Amino acid sequence: MRSLISIADLTNDEIEEIFSLADAAHRLRTERPANGQIMATLFYEPSTRTRLSFESAMQRLGGTVISCSDMRSSSAAKGETLADTAKVVSAYADVLVVRHNWDGAVQAMAEHADVPVINAGDGGHEHPTQTLCDLYTLRQEKGDLKGLTVVVCGDLKNGRTIHSLVFALARFGANVVTLAANGMELPQYVIERLEREYNYDLAPVASDDLNAVMTETDALYLTPKQPHQLALFTQVDQVIQARLNTMATGLRYDAFYMTRKQKERITDGAANGSYPTIGPEFLRERRFQDTVVMHPLPRVDELSPELDKDRRGIYFKQAAYGVPVRMALLKFLFDRREAKATAAKKKAVAYESPEKLGPQCRNPNCVTLKEPASTQKRFELFSVGEIGTLILGCAYCDHRFKVQFVGNVKSKRYCSYDDSLADTMRDWLNRDQLAIFDSIKEAEELGYEPVKSGPQRTLMGEVEIASALAEMSRQILRDCRDPDRLLILGVRSVGSQLAQRIAAEIEGQRKRKVELGEIEIYGAGDELKRLSPTDPDAAPLSLKDREVILVDDVIHTGRTVKSALSIIFRSGRPQSVRLAVLIDRGHREVPVKPNYVGKNIPSSEKDRVRVKLRVLDQEERDQVVIFSVISPAHGTKPSSAGAKKRAAR
Ligand code: CP
Repeated sequence: MRSLISIADLTNDEIEEIFSLADAAHRLRTERPANGQIMATLFYEPSTRTRLSFESAMQRLGGTVISCSDMRSSSAAKGETLADTAKVVSAYADVLVVRHNWDGAVQAMAEHADVPVINAGDGGHEHPTQTLCDLYTLRQEKGDLKGLTVVVCGDLKNGRTIHSLVFALARFGANVVTLAANGMELPQYVIERLEREYNYDLAPVASDDLNAVMTETDALYLTPKQPHQLALFTQVDQVIQARLNTMATGLRYDAFYMTRKQKERITDGAANGSYPTIGPEFLRERRFQDTVVMHPLPRVDELSPELDKDRRGIYFKQAAYGVPVRMALLKFLFDRREAKATAAKKKAVAYESPEKLGPQCRNPNCVTLKEPASTQKRFELFSVGEIGTLILGCAYCDHRFKVQFVGNVKSKRYCSYDDSLADTMRDWLNRDQLAIFDSIKEAEELGYEPVKSGPQRTLMGEVEIASALAEMSRQILRDCRDPDRLLILGVRSVGSQLAQRIAAEIEGQRKRKVELGEIEIYGAGDELKRLSPTDPDAAPLSLKDREVILVDDVIHTGRTVKSALSIIFRSGRPQSVRLAVLIDRGHREVPVKPNYVGKNIPSSEKDRVRVKLRVLDQEERDQVVIFSVISPAHGTKPSSAGAKKRAAR
C-alpha cells in the first residue's frame, strides 16, 4: 500500500508518470477511475488550496469526500490519539488526506491506517503535494527541470513547502539559490541531506544581482558538486553546460519562489523582524525579464499585487494546477494499492533502542514528543564524514542530533561517544548491542556503569586556563578592526562557556559590552542564538559585516569547526571569521588553522583530552585532562584501524 509522506517516497520516474497523468486530466475526468471510492480529509490546520483542490480532484475522478469541517469539533478535541483516529477513519474511507501542525504527525497516522495516507503538510516538515504542483508548474513554464536555477526566498526554516521543493529540485538536477530572511535559513538537517543524498554543495552567490531587488538577505547557491569543477565542463551534458556558461558571467534566474513568514511556527523575536518583499522594482529589472515568480500562497504582504497582471506572476496558475496534479496523484496511488514503496531516499541504517530508556528526538514540535503513544522510538543512524560523528535522525520529522552517550547491552557499560569509537559502535550495532542514551542519568537508571579509563593526567590547571584566555582575549582585541562589530560565538557547550569568559575579558579591557552568541551543531533548536541578553523578543543574531570569533575548547580533526563555518556562512555574510581554541591537538583532517590557541597538546588517537569547567562538570576547579579509554567491548584500548582518519576529541 502506497502512502505519500515525503517527496522522497516518489522516484523521479514516478513523478514524471504523475505529470503525464496530470497532462491528461481531462481524460481521467471522463474515465472516473475513483468511482465508488471515498476520500477522508482530516485537516488539523487551516487550508484553502490543498484541501479544496484535493476534494475537487476526488470528485472529478468520480469519487466522493467525507470530512470534518473543523478538527476541533472532532473527537481529537476529547483527546483521541492520531493512531486511533487513523484506524477508525480507515474503515470509512479508501484514502486519507491529512494536514497537521506537528512535524511527523502524518507519518505516525500512516503507520496506524489501513489505507493510503497523503501528507497535506505536517508542521514545518514537508508538503510533498505542493512540491508536485510546483514542479509541474515549472515544467509547464520552463520545460526541462534539469539545469534550471530557482531562487527560494523568505522563511526557509519553517516553510515546509521549501523543504520538499529543494529536495525535489536537487533530484531533478536544478540549482537552488537560497535567499533567507534573517534567522530563517534552511535547517541543518535539510542542508545535510542535500549534501549526503544528492551530492549538493553550498556556495555564496558570486554576483550581487539579487541585491537589486532584495535587501537584508544573503544569497547562497546550492548546486550539484560536479559542475563546479570547470574542467568537467566538456563532459557534462549540453543543458547543464549552457547554463553554467551563463553562470560564469552572472546567474540566470529561471524562477523566484517566494514564501510567507510562517508566523504560526515562530516563537522568538524573528516573528517581528524584517522580511524580504518582491515589489514593482522586480518587474523593471531587465535581468529578471524571463524569471517567473511563484508562491505556494497564501501571501500576506511579501508579494506585491502589482505582479498579478504581469505574465511572470504565475502563482494563481500554480494553485490551479493543484486539481489536475492531485487527480493524477490519486489515480497513481489507487493503481498501486498493493504495491510497496520504491523510495527515492537513500537508505540509512535504522536504529531502535534496545532499552526502554533511550534517545528522544529534540525537535520540540515532533510528534514523538507531542504524542509518544502513536509513535515508535525509531531513528536513522548516520556517520558524518565516513568515520566520525554519530548522528541520529528522527524517523518522523527528520531532525538530526549528535549521539551523546553509548552503551553495550551485554557488558552494561557506557561512555560518552567519541569519534574514535566509530568502529566499535558499528560492531555493536551489527550485534544489536548498541544502546544510545541522552544522559548519564538514563544509563545509570538502567544499571549501566561507566567504562574503565586509564589514569588521568592534568595538563592545565585553573590559573593556566585563566591566563591563556586572558592572553587570547588581548590578541583578539589587538587584531580587531572595529571592536563594535565583534561577535564572540561559542560552540555549544564547552566552547560557549569559554566564549563567555573571553567576552568578559574583552568587556573588562574595553569597558563596553561585546555581543555573544552560541552555535549548535546537530542540536535541538536554533543553530545560532544569542547568549545574552536572553530577551525572547531580541532580534536574531545578525552576522552581516561582523568580525566573528568562533570559540571552541579543543581542535583535533577540524571537522567541528568546518561544520560551524558552514552554519556561519549559510546564516550571513560576516566580514571575517577567526578561530580561538583553548587546546590544539594537531592531526587535522580539514585544513583549518586556529588564529588563537591557549596551548598546543599533540596527542595520540587513543587519548582523550577534556576541558573540564566548574560550571559544567561540577568540578572544584577548571582543568584540562588527558586519559585513555579501555574499550568497553574488548577490555583493550579502542581499535586504531583507520585511526588517522578519525576524530578523537
Ligand atoms: N499552498 C497551500 O498549502 O495552501 P493552503 O494552506 O491554502 O492549503
